[in-house]
Amino acid sequence: MLYRALRPLLFQLDPERAHRIALRAMSSLARRPGLARFVHRTLARPARFPVEALGLCFPNPIGLAAGFDKDGEAPLAWWALGFGFIELGTVTPRPQPGNPRPRMFRDPARGALINRMGFNNIGADEVVARLDEMERAGRRPPIPIGISVGKNKDTPLERAADDYRDAAAVLAPHADFLTINVSSPNTPGLRELQQAESIHAIVASVRIAAPAKPVLIKIAPELSGEPLKEVLDAALAAGVSGVIATNTLSTAETPGVEPGGLSGRPLHATAVARVREIIARVGSAVAVIGCGGIDDADSCRAFLDAGARLVQLYTGLVYRGPFLAARLSRALAMSETQSAPPH
Ligand code: FNR
Repeated sequence: MLYRALRPLLFQLDPERAHRIALRAMSSLARRPGLARFVHRTLARPARFPVEALGLCFPNPIGLAAGFDKDGEAPLAWWALGFGFIELGTVTPRPQPGNPRPRMFRDPARGALINRMGFNNIGADEVVARLDEMERAGRRPPIPIGISVGKNKDTPLERAADDYRDAAAVLAPHADFLTINVSSPNTPGLRELQQAESIHAIVASVRIAAPAKPVLIKIAPELSGEPLKEVLDAALAAGVSGVIATNTLSTAETPGVEPGGLSGRPLHATAVARVREIIARVGSAVAVIGCGGIDDADSCRAFLDAGARLVQLYTGLVYRGPFLAARLSRALAMSETQSAPPH
């Protein structure tokens, strides 16, 4: 309700500026554990809908997708809003500014965003310093934290595995799982890593750098058919624990729209189809996380019905407001109660 009143004001601002304001508010909440607990209990009121996956316990299956809190500014705040897990990043070994602005665009008519951020982030060492401080202050949220790792723009593709390994090595002590992002459309050449040989090398080197942590890969919605099977087989052979489907759709071939990655409602059907395709190939050998266009209970359910164990969202938060995850958790718990057989 409140968000419906606030949204027109936020939407008058440049999207990246609105995002910065939202993050600043979240980071201020994350530094106040008492207030965070109040928000969690009194305003968000997420339902328990526990899921076990990746050897971890999730209080509910709804996660914050990578890219919203790239630098780990507000982990406790996402718990306060009702998320069951979060993914920070994408973090590269060295800091980098990303692409020139403007680089984030709204398409309200379609419930979509287009972004070409380009892995702007403060770098692995700074993120570690921030997470160290969070832990020393006792402000780590009681939900799993994943960290997405990527390669710096100026690292040649042949040395990509070194970047993933280096970022993973320093971030692993703070992460419950690590995600290999080879699917952003905004780092030139990155998606070329979505082939068997590169995937095997990258998963293997991240696993050596972080032997105690589950390692996931995140794929592009365009990856399907035989090339997808080859990537899955290679990732599995190298010991991957999960697959996130999907990242954004590239708009590079679409005339008349901003170049970048399309997220939100227009991505949903493709992302669900990809989850189905992955599960048909790997069965329950790995955990699949569905991501793309979740903005209500039906779009969330569609991923779970397709076989995803967990889901993530980003764009829905922009259009539906900060308590979307909590609302979805309640809808899941409610439908569970209604469909439970009578005793
Ligand atoms: C993203 N996404 C993303 N994914 C990722 O793995 N690493 C990243 O750094 C980012 N950055 C990022 C920035 C912005 C502005 C957006 C909108 C998205 C992709 C995101 O995690 C997710 O896969 C897609 O947005 C699809 O989900 P939604 O947004 O439709 O729920």
